Amino acid sequence: MEEFSLKTEIFAGAGALSALEKFGAKRLLLVADPYFMKNGTAKRVADLAKAEQVEFFDRVQPDPTVALAAEGTARMNEFRPDLLVALGGGSAMDCAKAMAYFAQNSVRLVAIPTTSGSGSEVTNFAILTHGKAKHPLVDEKLRPAAAILDSDLLTQLPPGLIADAGFDVLTHAVEAYVATGAGMFSDMYARESFRIAYAVLPASYAGKTEVRLRMHLASTMAGIAFSQAGLGLCHAISHSLGGMFHVPHGRLNAILLPAVVDCNAHKSASRYAELARCAGMAGSADAVALRNLKNGLLRLRRELGLPQTLAQAGIPSRKLTENMPMIIETVLEDPCVETNPIKVEEFLIRRILGEVAGHG
Ligand SMILES: NC(=O)c1ccc[n+]([C@@H]2O[C@H](COP(=O)([O-])OP(=O)(O)OC[C@H]3O[C@@H](n4cnc5c(N)ncnc54)[C@H](O)[C@@H]3O)[C@@H](O)[C@H]2O)c1
Ligand SMILES: [Fe+2]
Repeated sequence: MEEFSLKTEIFAGAGALSALEKFGAKRLLLVADPYFMKNGTAKRVADLAKAEQVEFFDRVQPDPTVALAAEGTARMNEFRPDLLVALGGGSAMDCAKAMAYFAQNSVRLVAIPTTSGSGSEVTNFAILTHGKAKHPLVDEKLRPAAAILDSDLLTQLPPGLIADAGFDVLTHAVEAYVATGAGMFSDMYARESFRIAYAVLPASYAGKTEVRLRMHLASTMAGIAFSQAGLGLCHAISHSLGGMFHVPHGRLNAILLPAVVDCNAHKSASRYAELARCAGMAGSADAVALRNLKNGLLRLRRELGLPQTLAQAGIPSRKLTENMPMIIETVLEDPCVETNPIKVEEFLIRRILGEVAGHG
């Protein structure tokens, strides 16, 4: 049986931020990425909600920790907002989602993504870091009440962030399409998000702001797909390495994804081939389309200036070897391995890491 629901109301387009007024907030707490606090956007966004009282929580850092979410939750319990707004990338949204989840009073959460990457604005995931590990919290209650996808927030995106976050979108789509929880509805969102992201990422990276709304919507679609279907081994390894070495999440996915596609191919070749064809990578035989998919991802990764190996991303192979037992333990504990199309075993993790380690 396939079950599909989407709780989150979506407002999309240039100027969509004006929808904030509809929520009739009296007490607004805005969780803002510090970048938007400094440049005045957080204040401008808060004003649009026309609330009687406004407070800001702007201590968000990339890969938010459990301690930070606890600090934010304490702030919620003191201020008792009736509307919580998250403005930022996956890190700000995940922090706000955890705050809403753990707070004493129930609150509506509106997520406003400023990167086209995590899809967190519609997902039932929040990824928190504790010690050296990232822990995905997965619960339906984490889904925001609303998501505002406003292209006006994307005009200043730096190319490096477009590349990192963009590969997160591609990885969400690819992993959701072959995940064990995939169904016809998640397939539809995964295919369309992959097709759009693969087509427009180079233009967005090159500075064409007019394609950024499409990329933003593709990111949300990939979030819808994976929160229904699940993810896979690429995300499990990426969470483990991200918690340990603090390399951006999407950059790790970019390094790992082609190797994970190879590893899952004996089970999922025809599914990968379908995805390749829908993005215009020809090949009537599955083996040809699969090869084209892998080559297409490698080419795009180079074109977006992303590293090809973990060593190039600042993780020396010596550090990988030293931390291997902990990496394997955290990968095997990650909920994303449960929906990978083939059973994840220790030798597969070692094989993939060996393939992408690089020299240095
Ligand atoms: N909850 C989910 O479903 C989910 C899914 C995938 C990833 N994630 C998590 O999301 C996080 C990654 O999120 P992300 O890729 O959006 O990055 P991010 O939120 O960590 O932000 C990265 C950097 O970009 C800056 N930034 C954000 N928007 C900007 C803009 N418009 N212009 C200039 N700078 C901007 C931030 O200040 C920060 O320094 C990771 O912790 C990852 O684990 C969560
Ligand atoms: Fe991701």
